[in-house]
Amino acid sequence: MSTIKLFIDGKEVEVERGTTILKAAGQAGVRIPTLCHHPDLEPYGGCRLCIVKVEGMRGMPPSCITEVAEGMKVTTEDDEILAARRTVLRLLLADHTYDCLRCRANLDCELQKLTEELGVREHGLIPVLRESTIDESNPLFVRDMNRCVRCARCIRTCQEIIGLGAIDFLGRGHAVEVGPFANQPIAESICESCGECVVHCPTGALSFREQPPRPDRKETVICPYCGTGCSIELHVRRDRVVAASGDRHSEVNRGLLCLKGRFGSFPYLHDPERLTRPLVRKRGELVECDWDEALDLVAQKFRQHRGEAFAAFSSAKVANEDNYLMQKFSREVQGSNSVDHCARL
Ligand code: SF4
Ligand code: SF4
Ligand code: SF4
Ligand code: FES
Repeated sequence: MSTIKLFIDGKEVEVERGTTILKAAGQAGVRIPTLCHHPDLEPYGGCRLCIVKVEGMRGMPPSCITEVAEGMKVTTEDDEILAARRTVLRLLLADHTYDCLRCRANLDCELQKLTEELGVREHGLIPVLRESTIDESNPLFVRDMNRCVRCARCIRTCQEIIGLGAIDFLGRGHAVEVGPFANQPIAESICESCGECVVHCPTGALSFREQPPRPDRKETVICPYCGTGCSIELHVRRDRVVAASGDRHSEVNRGLLCLKGRFGSFPYLHDPERLTRPLVRKRGELVECDWDEALDLVAQKFRQHRGEAFAAFSSAKVANEDNYLMQKFSREVQGSNSVDHCARL
């Protein structure tokens, strides 16, 4: 891979050809504020908060979509750039339900953080009244388009990462908002409720209904639901698992989770009805027993039911080796080729 040299705020930097100015600045330890950019997604260039100056180039190009060139001289911050960024931010705020104290994203909002970073407390403009969609049809997350900054991170997440395209921009001009086809309730759309768009939304426009307390630690485990083997971070607060998120360091899922991993991988852990001991049926009733008794009963039933009377159904949760042994046991010991596996469903 060939490299090129450029200057960022007077400092010489060497990066791979094709790198964006934003990425090159990051490699040089220079922070440029962003909003529509997300490292999981393709460069987009929608919000214009990451503008910089490049010697010899007209205007202020967005650094997240502008590629570096040999000898390029980039200025990432001066009074003019800051003023332009503040104007962009004020325009976004004027078009936004700006009541952070009542917002689910309060203290965890990229827009809010940018107002602090750029010193914009008030937008100072006549607010634009919006009566956009508030969609509470999904049992797991809420969509409040009055808090949307139209960064398209959710749309791009659903298209680029999930490969579904359940949501897109709807309408025109000032009235544009994000939603499923014909702005139907999201619960009636093709959305699979994976929650990835919520994770990638920088504001309170998309928020999970459950707002778990901040964890005191995180434990990394493998999702128990299927054979993909996604790595999950369980958020633990006072020895109780309160939430799950994708492990960004995992080569398998790179931080992503599906509906089952995100919402279903932990609530049963503390369920009072969770089975922790085996049950056997005695006189029509399921009663608790110890493992020896349960396994003896299974072995006895295996001896009684061989050949066509026996079938084995295995699970994607176990290792390939376990599944291999299961089918071998069924064919060689029980004399039955009736073998199946939940991954086929
Ligand atoms: S989305 Fe962010 S900036 Fe907007 S009201 Fe919520 S916390 Fe405040
Ligand atoms: S929850 Fe998942 S499937 Fe539904 S819109 Fe968001 S990213 Fe797309
Ligand atoms: S819903 Fe969130 S991610 Fe989607 S465009 Fe609006 S602010 Fe961006
Ligand atoms: S972060 Fe570059 S244009 Fe939005």
